[in-house]
Amino acid sequence: MKKSAVFILTLISISVFIFVSAYSQDEMEFVDNSVFENPERVSSVFLHDEHNEKAEVEECNECHHIYEDEKLVEDETSEDQRCSECHEMEASGNMPALMKAYHTNCKGCHLEKKKGPIMCGECHIK
Ligand code: HEC
Ligand code: HEC
Ligand code: HEC
Ligand code: HEC
Repeated sequence: MKKSAVFILTLISISVFIFVSAYSQDEMEFVDNSVFENPERVSSVFLHDEHNEKAEVEECNECHHIYEDEKLVEDETSEDQRCSECHEMEASGNMPALMKAYHTNCKGCHLEKKKGPIMCGECHIK
């Protein structure tokens, strides 16, 4: 009796955990702009998983990077952190300001691949 209750509880917590962790990026449709005071634009469209599949971006740290001594650390990601946890409103040293960090990351790759939107209204869709 007790054993099966524990088993069921374990099952429930595992599925909640899977659900929560899948929910976080699976369901993402926009890049949350709430860290910006008085945002000028509507949030940018970004269907996280669908985008990365279509764009064939395999490495999470292509976007969720970690740097040590100004060098990109391979095989490590900051996927549990928001860009704004490191990038501030103003640039400091090599760290681009938050808006620039997003734009350089997103548009930079679109320009390089000659695919994906680069016009304001194609990402900030009213
Ligand atoms: C490839 C997609 C993309 C394009 C193209 C783009 N942006 Fe953004 N922009 C973002 C993302 C992602 C953010 C982060 C927050 C968000 O979703 O708004 C952002 C943030 C911003 C912010 C800071 C938040 C705010 O609303 O005040 C401004 C201002 C902004 N963009 C203006 C522009 C302008 C002007 C252009 C065209 C010159 C442009 N963006 C083009 C993706 C894009
Ligand atoms: C093309 C860029 C890009 C790639 C590649 C990418 N992500 Fe993200 N991811 C983002 C952006 C942008 C956000 C929003 C960050 C923010 O709010 O500051 C985000 C958010 C997240 C979140 C938080 C979701 C939420 O709702 O708060 C998780 C978890 C995450 N990513 C995991 C991953 C994992 C795991 C991978 C690799 C399989 C990955 N990401 C690859 C750009 C990317
Ligand atoms: C753990 C802290 C941290 C997080 C989280 C982080 N960054 Fe950075 N980022 C840095 C540091 C440090 C640098 C400066 C690198 C150097 O020394 O050249 C940087 C540099 C950049 C650059 C310029 C160099 C380059 O790689 O093109 C862009 C663009 C950028 N970040 C975008 C982002 C975006 C977008 C996110 C969120 C998806 C993000 N960063 C999350 C720490 C972080
Ligand atoms: C490493 C490269 C790369 C990065 C980084 C990247 N993209 Fe893209 N993106 C692409 C490619 C490639 C496509 C075209 C995919 C296709 O349709 O073949 C694309 C397409 C898109 C589209 C069109 C709709 C779609 O989902 O196909 C949007 C919107 C978009 N990107 C937004 C963003 C935003 C916002 C960011 C930054 C948070 C970003 N992208 C970062 C490569 C990238």
